[in-house]
Amino acid sequence: MTKTINLFTPYAGKISIQNKIVMAPMTRSRAIGNIPNQLMAQYYAQRASAGLIITEGTAPSPNGLGYARIPGIFSQEQIAGWKLTTQAVHAQGSKIFVQLMHTGRIGHSANLPVGAHLLAPSAISANEAMWTDTQGMQTTDTPKAMSIEEVEACIEEFAQAAANAIEAGFDGVELHGANGYLLEQFLNPGVNQRTDDFGGNIENRIRFVVEATKAVVERIGADKVGVRISPYNTFNAMPAFNETVETYKRLVESLNSLDIAYLHVVDYAARATEEGQALLKTIRGSFSNTLIFNAGYTKERAIKAIENQEADLISFGSSFIANPDLPYRFANDIPLSTPNPETFYTPGEAGFIDYPNAE
Ligand SMILES: Cc1cc2nc3c(=O)[nH]c(=O)nc-3n(C[C@H](O)[C@H](O)[C@H](O)COP(=O)(O)O)c2cc1C
Repeated sequence: MTKTINLFTPYAGKISIQNKIVMAPMTRSRAIGNIPNQLMAQYYAQRASAGLIITEGTAPSPNGLGYARIPGIFSQEQIAGWKLTTQAVHAQGSKIFVQLMHTGRIGHSANLPVGAHLLAPSAISANEAMWTDTQGMQTTDTPKAMSIEEVEACIEEFAQAAANAIEAGFDGVELHGANGYLLEQFLNPGVNQRTDDFGGNIENRIRFVVEATKAVVERIGADKVGVRISPYNTFNAMPAFNETVETYKRLVESLNSLDIAYLHVVDYAARATEEGQALLKTIRGSFSNTLIFNAGYTKERAIKAIENQEADLISFGSSFIANPDLPYRFANDIPLSTPNPETFYTPGEAGFIDYPNAE
């Protein structure tokens, strides 16, 4: 008889964790001055019954700080600030990866530190609404198209941020290749209109993600690296494009050849079509290491997905905001609390560290 794979039992891959429940990366905008702090350490420690925590999107470069109060991991002060979190989470017996999020064109100059620039593959504005602490609601700026030197410098920033993450005590890093930020901006031909080696055909459009991942792997080792992707994503003004299947097939093959620890797929847009569902199966078949699925999972759907071996781990986002003890609640059939979206991105404790455990 084959043994049923259980959501609540430990998982051993390149990462070994206490259960198959992952806390998805979530921007919470509590990093005043872009520096991680004690309040954030408390928030993550409260959620350390997750097998793996992936932090909020964290900028590898001042140019990647498109949103107000998001943390970075490029300065010594930020490394010191993150140590509070990694120590607190490890003390609770969990593991934690930092998500490296370069916002690319999703940003506003009022959010950037002095001397930083909004950069993207091409000078095409997302025209999205963007909160700034000093000027209220604004529209995202038109980014500067990156020169080849800026592309290369940015890849090095990812590698250095990864080294900084290890210094800060993280178990690894996740490159944010999803949800319309810089890495996905390179993948999408509607946003990437470059005519050099980083734009045009599929090999060229996946090059930035692959090169950045490779640089990170070379710096900290493949076992400490994950990548997040979101095929068919349209969030952050990402237009649909014809070669989605071929682009992601090639990307996943390339990431697989780098032997990274995990691939984290935001799957809700793909699930909406038969073509997308087939792509998810192809990804499962062509990626050899740990596969994490995310978006809109209930406990029941997660158990099914794990039992059917559609993925190895499931990550949960918003339900972890309001339920710090989410694995315990799942295991004991305790009803979930509902998170309040009004405090998702507001500074301070309210809606951040004040959601109680079930007991
Ligand atoms: C408040 C909030 C902030 C988020 N910030 C990020 C982020 O920084 N990086 C990221 O990859 N996804 C981010 N997401 C998306 C989540 O990781 C996840 O994909 C989404 O919430 C869907 O999963 P769920 O249905 O379990 O909530 C965010 C989601 C929420 C609700």
